[in-house]
Amino acid sequence: MDVDELKKLLSEIKTDVKARIGELASLEKLRQLESQIVGKKGRLGELLGSIGKFPKEARGSVGQVLNSAKKEVAELFQTRRTALQASESAADSKAGVTADPTLPGLPRNVGSVHPVTAVQWEVEEIFERLGFTIETGPEMESDYYNFEALNIPAWHPARDMQDTFWLENGMLLRTHTSPVQIRAMEKFGPPLRCIVPGRCFRYETIDASHENTFHQCEGLMIDKGISVANLIAVMKLLLREVFHRDVAIRLRPGYFPFVEPGFELDMSCMICNGDGCATCKKSGWIEILPCGMVHPNVLKCGGIDPHEYTGFAFGLGLTRLAMMKYGIRDIRIMNSGDLRGLVHPERLCGPLIGTRQC
Ligand code: DAH
Repeated sequence: MDVDELKKLLSEIKTDVKARIGELASLEKLRQLESQIVGKKGRLGELLGSIGKFPKEARGSVGQVLNSAKKEVAELFQTRRTALQASESAADSKAGVTADPTLPGLPRNVGSVHPVTAVQWEVEEIFERLGFTIETGPEMESDYYNFEALNIPAWHPARDMQDTFWLENGMLLRTHTSPVQIRAMEKFGPPLRCIVPGRCFRYETIDASHENTFHQCEGLMIDKGISVANLIAVMKLLLREVFHRDVAIRLRPGYFPFVEPGFELDMSCMICNGDGCATCKKSGWIEILPCGMVHPNVLKCGGIDPHEYTGFAFGLGLTRLAMMKYGIRDIRIMNSGDLRGLVHPERLCGPLIGTRQC
């Protein structure tokens, strides 16, 4: 058989299918005809299996002709199947049959985790591997833990850096996760390695980059001989794990009353690889986290002797990190309940080690 003969044969098969398909009154009959035509031993099925019998140079065009015939015939069957399904289910419901338990179920939307939760789990896992524990503290805090014990007395101008929701009972909504540094020192004493993911609140006007409710993750490591070198090593590892590549960092001086020296840690911009772009304001660097060596006054408030122990602390902005990681431009999506703000779950369950209340 040559290609022209094949084309003729295929067109006969199609005409035959068209003629018979309209008369079929049930899905079962349609299935039977389909297997007679397309099944392995069917008229079209056999031809499909016979490409190998054609001379090598003709196989390309034979394949094309056969595939397009196969597609056309499949469409004829599908169209008829849809029509028969509709009329059979209409007949069923007339006869009082309302559900067919053999039909596949309706697809369900799969739940997914909030971007902040996804980043939090990731950060927790990284620090668990380094032997850090995960702690939590209260969202309603006292002035003592939120400010005083962190070397920010009532007269200190640094209080203005964090606009505060004061409560009628004299307490406040914590403006950062740093108060849990003191709680952890009091509870566990040195040596100490912990992180504290949690919700924080500031009396802010909301816009695309400011929220009154956001997430931070505090980090604290205290032991004998801890230095800035330890801080840099841990921060580099954290960023490498989160962004899945080595990230260049730099430290600039930064002022926070509870650390001395205090730093702003920048990482090289991931968008332009440090060349300078709109995201990094042409600097090649993105400010990623404030950190520093725990101030001796803070160690003392936590009951730790600053002559014997030193430590570093950092305050990772989880909300900001999630925005960077998932390319979210407007912070307002985070608390909006808008399901489009959710990320596909990378993991289905939370960290294996639970959080502890400090
Ligand atoms: N608590 C600070 C804030 O929310 C951030 C911070 C800065 C935390 C330096 C730290 C640190 O632990 O060392 O603005």
